[in-house]
Amino acid sequence: MKFIFLGPPGAGKGTLAAKVAESYNIPHISTGEIFRAAIKAQTPLGKKVQAIIDAGSLVSDDITIELVRERLSQPDAQKGFILDGFPRTIPQAEALEGIVPVNAVVNFDIADKEVVERLSGRRVCRNCGQNYHVKFMPPAHEGICDSCKAELYIRDDDKIEAITHRLEVYREQTAPLIDFYRNKKVLTDIDARPLTSAILKEFEAKFPKN
Ligand code: AP5
Repeated sequence: MKFIFLGPPGAGKGTLAAKVAESYNIPHISTGEIFRAAIKAQTPLGKKVQAIIDAGSLVSDDITIELVRERLSQPDAQKGFILDGFPRTIPQAEALEGIVPVNAVVNFDIADKEVVERLSGRRVCRNCGQNYHVKFMPPAHEGICDSCKAELYIRDDDKIEAITHRLEVYREQTAPLIDFYRNKKVLTDIDARPLTSAILKEFEAKFPKN
């Protein structure tokens, strides 16, 4: 199955995508994660996009589309995938149609107030990238990853000025994709407020495995 996860920053797309990837045995492809890995490794791509991402702005469509085109050509993506954080603009959505047709777009519905609470409390493992939340999904030991025991950190784009900017960018450039996909009759809304386990149950009911 080929899914797009659409929604504001902090809606829980990455958290649910990790569970769906496991449950449906398909890869979780997060453009944000790919960019962060490039920044960590200080590749030419990483150096180019670091300041843009830290500020909460969008990387150019050209760069992002090529990156996704390459990733979707890999063998593991042929049986299906979850695209998390792509497309984020109308030109990206139009380009994707020329790469591979996707027939399930999941729109995460959540209010700004909850987004701010989720992002300002998010902690991420420096080593394996696992997400936590100080209140909603705390690690067993403060500041330490449960899985690999590495240190947890706060993403630069989870500082309050960047969160506010990301929400503006989302409204201006990404929210129009809701109507784009609704008009194509491939959009399914999902209430992103409950616990992840409850959202996963709803998701599995809406999208039975083949
Ligand atoms: P990206 O990494 O995609 O960031 P994002 O879309 O802003 O999404 P987030 O990772 O912030 O949130 P999420 O919805 O995945 O929430 P999460 O599950 O972590 O992109 C980063 C940057 O890369 C962009 O700003 C841009 O610069 C660039 N970029 C990426 N893609 C691009 C593109 N296509 N074009 C151009 N530029 C691009 O959850 C958040 C928190 O809430 C966590 O702490 C989690 O534990 C908690 N939580 C999750 N679910 C629940 C729940 N159900 N209940 C309670 N807490 C929950």
